Amino acid sequence: MAKEIPLNDTVTLSMLDKDPYPVYQELRRTTPLVRLQAIDRVILTKARDTHYVKTTPDLFGSHDTTTPMQRAFRGHTLMRKDGEAHLRERSAMVPPLSLDTITNEWTSVLTLIAHDFISELPRGDTLDLKTAFAEPLAARSLARLLGLDSASNEDLLEWAPALIQGAMNAARDEAVFARSDQANDAMDACFRSNMERFLQAPNSSVLSHMTHMSDPLPFSQIGTNLRICIGGGLVETRDGLLTTLYGLLGNPDQLEDCMSKAKWKAACEEGLRWVAPIQTSPRIVLEDTEICGYPLEKGQTILAAQASANRDEDLWKDPEKFDINRTLIRHQSFGDGAHNCLGQNIYRVFISAIVLPMLFDRFPKLTLAPSETVQFRGFGFRGPENLPVTLN
Ligand code: HEM
Repeated sequence: MAKEIPLNDTVTLSMLDKDPYPVYQELRRTTPLVRLQAIDRVILTKARDTHYVKTTPDLFGSHDTTTPMQRAFRGHTLMRKDGEAHLRERSAMVPPLSLDTITNEWTSVLTLIAHDFISELPRGDTLDLKTAFAEPLAARSLARLLGLDSASNEDLLEWAPALIQGAMNAARDEAVFARSDQANDAMDACFRSNMERFLQAPNSSVLSHMTHMSDPLPFSQIGTNLRICIGGGLVETRDGLLTTLYGLLGNPDQLEDCMSKAKWKAACEEGLRWVAPIQTSPRIVLEDTEICGYPLEKGQTILAAQASANRDEDLWKDPEKFDINRTLIRHQSFGDGAHNCLGQNIYRVFISAIVLPMLFDRFPKLTLAPSETVQFRGFGFRGPENLPVTLN
């Protein structure tokens, strides 16, 4: 007989926002599948279960038209579609985000962008790498890659949080939607003007590719899927980079090892494993089923916590530690299955082959500013709120 899913009524939203990792550690040990009262969802915390849910599309889908995301993104994005409908929209972005395109078309552009930012960082100063570096760097590189050259860094840094807060607006607060509406008006104008430009002068960007497809998507779908890249791509790139930097700066022996042996790829992957920038992903149960003997009902939304999966003791020794010398760093931070992240090639190349080596080449003695503390926050999206460093 199927078991009853345990209910946890002690974990609070504030605990999850401040630091979900002790909670996950305890849940993995005691109740790896549990209903968290604070979020009114069943959550899965073991790597085998989160992987299973993401890679079994017959039983667990993404098609959800009831989330605030649809309202906030001015349409139903590819991330919340399944099957053919998902594949058609995903295919429109695969070629411009492929490893070949990134390597052949974008490496030189991204190198110049990184060089511009890194060469302007003032040697000897103490500053917050989040606002002074990671945010504008992520914004500029994303604008070029997507084909939104006319958007300023400030535009993108307003649009991304407006979209994310709109997507998380479960209370459907009109003020939050008003902010995403305003951002969407500006984004639509930006998309249209750049599409006109690409009709005359195509390039390798995502929007140019979408403009020139033989069977193009409707404008609404081009826009809504570009918003996924803006919302996710900017905030996650920033958070992933800052987390990796914090891990390296907090472990000077590993940083030394990294610099002398060019272990930047390992550092990049370990940063992603250690603190997943997108911590959880929802899935809808498509048929009555069970996991580990616990019943899941058709229509129910469950949360796969890749952040917890990435620290599963079954896979990693001392998973709470940042350690670039792990033999296995196959994390789930870019998702799994049909919806795995389309931006993973660009992130990996940009951060591990360009940004990290260039930053530490210019500032080999970069250190955390001693008197400041670094605070991580977030349950859905997570990263450092600040990264004060001295540039030496
Ligand atoms: C550290 C950086 C990033 C992380 C950790 C990340 C993480 C993720 C995750 C976990 C998913 C899957 C969500 C799910 O299964 O429901 C996803 C999907 C996606 N990501 Fe990323 N992302 C990053 C950067 C980017 C960038 C830079 C772009 C665009 C240039 C991008 C574009 C997308 C798109 C379009 C999807 C939807 C794919 C689909 O539904 O088929 N991401 N990302």
